[in-house]
Amino acid sequence: MDRTFLMVKPDGVQRGLIGRIISRLEDKGFKLVAGKLVQMTQEQAKRHYAEHEGKPFFDDLVRFITSGPVFAMVWEGDDIVALARIVIGKTNVKEAAPGTIRGDFASHTPHNLIHGADSPESATREAANFFSPDELVSYEKSIAAWL
Ligand code: PPS
Repeated sequence: MDRTFLMVKPDGVQRGLIGRIISRLEDKGFKLVAGKLVQMTQEQAKRHYAEHEGKPFFDDLVRFITSGPVFAMVWEGDDIVALARIVIGKTNVKEAAPGTIRGDFASHTPHNLIHGADSPESATREAANFFSPDELVSYEKSIAAWL
């Protein structure tokens, strides 16, 4: 089973959308294996977005992601890295299709509510920035057999 790292950004937490975002991911059939509210430090934020260091928006990105708590999560499912990014929708909210989380709830880029890892390697690296291995809970979810 594949895993990905997802994170409700400070705008999503402030707008009270954690529950509805989690519902969308559960509705899709994904399984939550870890989750917690975190006030990221500058260092943690820079580690998380290390691939964007040096880009013109990097400082704004770090400022935004540390502006309030985020809800960090690890989810499990077949092909979940790619599938979760489809459920999330495009980064630019003008391109995010209706039915996606960003398409339905976000109206301003870069306040696009949720981050999703873009590869299995990124997912592993990003999850390790928030969770120790023993915080990732393995369990059976019987409904998964019917999806
Ligand atoms: S790139 O260069 O194409 O890879 O960048 P992109 O995928 O468009 O964006 C990468 C992440 O940076 C966020 N972003 C910003 N956040 C805050 N302020 C500004 N100005 C800004 N510009 C881009 C964008 O939402 C992406 O965040 P994640 O969390 O990866 O979805």
